[in-house]
Amino acid sequence: METVTESIYDHPRYYDLVFGTDCASELNFICDVKEKYLGSKSIRMFEPACGTGRLLFGLAKRGFEVEGIDLNEKAVAFSNQRFQRHGLEPVARVADMTRFRAQRKWDLAFNTINSFRHLTTAESAVDHLKCMADQTKRGGLYLIGLHLTPTTGEPLDGESWSARRGHLSVLTQMWTVERNPAKRLERFGMKFDVYTPTKLLRIEDELTMRSYTPQQFSSLLGKAGGWEVVETYDFAYNIKRPIQVDSSTEDVVYVLRKKG
Ligand SMILES: C[S@@+](CC[C@H](N)C(=O)[O-])C[C@H]1O[C@@H](n2cnc3c(N)ncnc32)[C@H](O)[C@@H]1O
Repeated sequence: METVTESIYDHPRYYDLVFGTDCASELNFICDVKEKYLGSKSIRMFEPACGTGRLLFGLAKRGFEVEGIDLNEKAVAFSNQRFQRHGLEPVARVADMTRFRAQRKWDLAFNTINSFRHLTTAESAVDHLKCMADQTKRGGLYLIGLHLTPTTGEPLDGESWSARRGHLSVLTQMWTVERNPAKRLERFGMKFDVYTPTKLLRIEDELTMRSYTPQQFSSLLGKAGGWEVVETYDFAYNIKRPIQVDSSTEDVVYVLRKKG
């Protein structure tokens, strides 16, 4: 088996298979949030760190006007090619989520599965939240889904899963390499074993993310200003079951509303 040390984000086809095969519950949840808090009016959506555009594409197919940005040009190209293949205008472009201008303001933005935690400093997280608030319409929403660091109980330490599409299958393992609560950084190791009829490839990758306890996330919102928490959910994505965040909460989706 050939082994390479590269970012999984530079392999959008494999990324999209690993993270994109079952996004129905996320898509349904985004639509449910829209109905519950914004009603039935037609709205514009935005995704910072959109990656391969798996969610943007699903929402575009449901008739929403969408736009996205991502730092990784291969992911952006993958997203735009998928839109074009399906006769849709491409909507993604390369930009940094801490400083960017969207084409137009939006009503609802979403940032699920920890992408927000790629912002590894307090300054970049504050810049991002301010940039998002500036371009959200009055009364608009921002959904941030992330894993918190529980302050009671042991956090989950590793997971593995597999996904298959046609002749391509990818076996994924992810584990914690280091937690540094003082620096608020967590390092994760990742291994992707890619199987095709003609190739066996192992991609080894490492990710560093900023960690948040519930209090640290609240304090960040206070520093950034501009947002209030409307409600919180977990990764079950059940609109009928909001959760109360407490010291043992691990996965959370904050529904934020632009203030004022
Ligand atoms: C876990 S992936 C999520 C992609 C997509 N949101 C999804 O749900 O599949 C995280 C993405 O964040 C992007 N990213 C990391 N830092 C970024 C930044 N500063 N600005 C824009 N995108 C960023 C990466 O390139 C990667 O595509």
